[in-house]
Amino acid sequence: MRQSTPWWIRIPVLFFLIFGLMEYFIDSGDQPAFIAQPAAALFLVVVLVLLIAVELMMRGIENVLYRTLDPAARKRYLEMKARPRRWEWGMRVYRNLLGSRPIEEEGEIILDHNYDGIRELDNRLPPWWVYSFYITIIFSVIYMFRYHVFSGDDQQTEFEKEMVAAREAVAEYKRTAVDLVDASTVELLTEPADLAAGEAIFTGNCAVCHKVDGGGSIGPNLTDDYWILGGGIRNIFNTISEGGRDGKGMVAWKTNLKPGEIAQVASYIVGLHGTNPPDAKAPEGELYVDPDAPVDRVEVETDSTGAEVIIETDTPNPLESESDQ
Ligand code: HEC
Repeated sequence: MRQSTPWWIRIPVLFFLIFGLMEYFIDSGDQPAFIAQPAAALFLVVVLVLLIAVELMMRGIENVLYRTLDPAARKRYLEMKARPRRWEWGMRVYRNLLGSRPIEEEGEIILDHNYDGIRELDNRLPPWWVYSFYITIIFSVIYMFRYHVFSGDDQQTEFEKEMVAAREAVAEYKRTAVDLVDASTVELLTEPADLAAGEAIFTGNCAVCHKVDGGGSIGPNLTDDYWILGGGIRNIFNTISEGGRDGKGMVAWKTNLKPGEIAQVASYIVGLHGTNPPDAKAPEGELYVDPDAPVDRVEVETDSTGAEVIIETDTPNPLESESDQ
């Protein structure tokens, strides 16, 4: 039985392979699986014991087989084991790639000039070098046709295509991972399907206190510019998720609604802004100006003379004071 690697390589390699696979497949958070889950550590110990046991069994079998051989076969077997056959194939490839003649044959390729005792061998070009050169030629032909004849994508186009694909992947990911949002990452949802779902959640859970139109009864008016706990999608998400001030009646909805649903109903509430429903409750809280509001909503008035900009600073201009000296 010929074994190519010694046991002291085989056992650790197999062990760490299994260890790595286990760590990869067991989801144990920040900690390594064998610390987080005692069963995993136990499993590793069993694996190690099994590996050693298998190794010992192989030895045993080899031993028994050896005893059954007749003396001539034993001798052949020992010879076979003693021959270093490790990496033989790799060594042959390496020698062929080098293409150098063994030192005994150098006499055949020596050139007949002699410079002060320095003589030259007429070695072949090493095959590894020649093959690399051929590969560059093949590469250049393929490259030329691909990019210069059939005008393949240049770096810019490739980059843009990758960005488009990445943006699609992100959108796809967000669609499947709706429940990964929290108050700091939530964005206003604009898909009609999300807003419809938000409306359904609102009429089902919130309308009792905020009225169907959001005008407010027990809870405050959600359609005006005034917010007790802050307006804008993030604050609203946070209020719905964590609840209002103690004893006011607005509970933390995170136990009943998934983050994705909170984002939907929060987006629906943002959409109620400015609807001015009849019999709405008077504004409560403070005026909230959304810092993320698109700039085109800011109105700038200019008169026919155009705008004049005066910048006043009370720190002296360092250049001026320098020139005074
Ligand atoms: C039991 C009645 C009640 C229900 C049901 C209720 N709310 Fe409220 N809500 C309140 C009260 C009361 C407040 C004011 C909290 C405070 O003053 O701290 C409030 C505040 C809010 C605010 C913050 C308003 C502001 O001015 O900052 C939002 C947003 C809100 N609720 C959304 C919802 C949503 C969405 C639901 C359904 C998932 C819901 N509420 C269900 C009673 C309720």
